[in-house]
Amino acid sequence: MAELLAGLGTSHVPSIAAALDKGLRHTPEWAPFFDGYTPAQDWIAAKKPDIAVVIFNDHGNAFFLDRVPTLALGVAEEYHPIDEGWGPRPIPPFRGAADFAWHLADCMVEGHFDPLICRELDVDHGLQVPMELVFGRPAAWPVKVVPILINTIQYPVPTPQRMWELGKLLRKAIENWPTDEKIVVMGTGGLSHQLQGARAGFINPAADRAWIDEIGPAPDRWRDMALTDYVETFGSEGAELIMWLVMRGCMDARVKTLHSHYFAPASMTGAGMVLLENAVCSS
Ligand code: DHB
Ligand code: FE
Repeated sequence: MAELLAGLGTSHVPSIAAALDKGLRHTPEWAPFFDGYTPAQDWIAAKKPDIAVVIFNDHGNAFFLDRVPTLALGVAEEYHPIDEGWGPRPIPPFRGAADFAWHLADCMVEGHFDPLICRELDVDHGLQVPMELVFGRPAAWPVKVVPILINTIQYPVPTPQRMWELGKLLRKAIENWPTDEKIVVMGTGGLSHQLQGARAGFINPAADRAWIDEIGPAPDRWRDMALTDYVETFGSEGAELIMWLVMRGCMDARVKTLHSHYFAPASMTGAGMVLLENAVCSS
């Protein structure tokens, strides 16, 4: 069976990509943010995963508000990065793990999660930025991707508990996948931010730090928390954090936090990552 190598949670703030594009990686403003990712990058590079399952939300780029799937799954051979207004991205297209994705589609439907199945899909910063944060700027991405898209844009948004259940299903799908491929599961979004309305500019570093510290060893209160409390605690867009629950629900009850990092603010957002490994791991 395939191996669940690690779970990674990370922000996907678009200005991270813009900073890389403008050559700002090593500037005093950005270096402390990017440097915090280096140990996780090195760990993942050494483990050589074959597939990254990336859970993210589209931000009105692949889907607009006239048609928003609650859950969508990419089964394509290739995904192109969307130009979100700053010009074409200087990154290669993403290779799809179409065979595993179709297997996951079967598992989802059998498990009563019914995704929109996308044979064609362009991907925005929600997938681009985590891939750049983990794999840098390679000439070709070293892993194939499976995009899982969750609606966190237009209400009703799915519940945190449903995200956890989707993670459990993903774990079963990985365990039933009869290859020796190594899979890293990436939950993206957050951390606290609100880009609109009366609380525009809101961030909550104390809650972000609690999230980073607890999502590995003590995730229950976050799993059980209401979506409205996510919005209250992390801001309307910070509620994207529910997508990390897919990653966490995919992992064992006991995990090791290998690396974590927090930096605020990046753009208007509390930003950071955790890298988790199952406590009893085969490799
Ligand atoms: C910002 C953060 C996000 O997660 C996002 O999707 C868009 C913008 C920001 O802080 O600018
Ligand atoms: Fe976002």
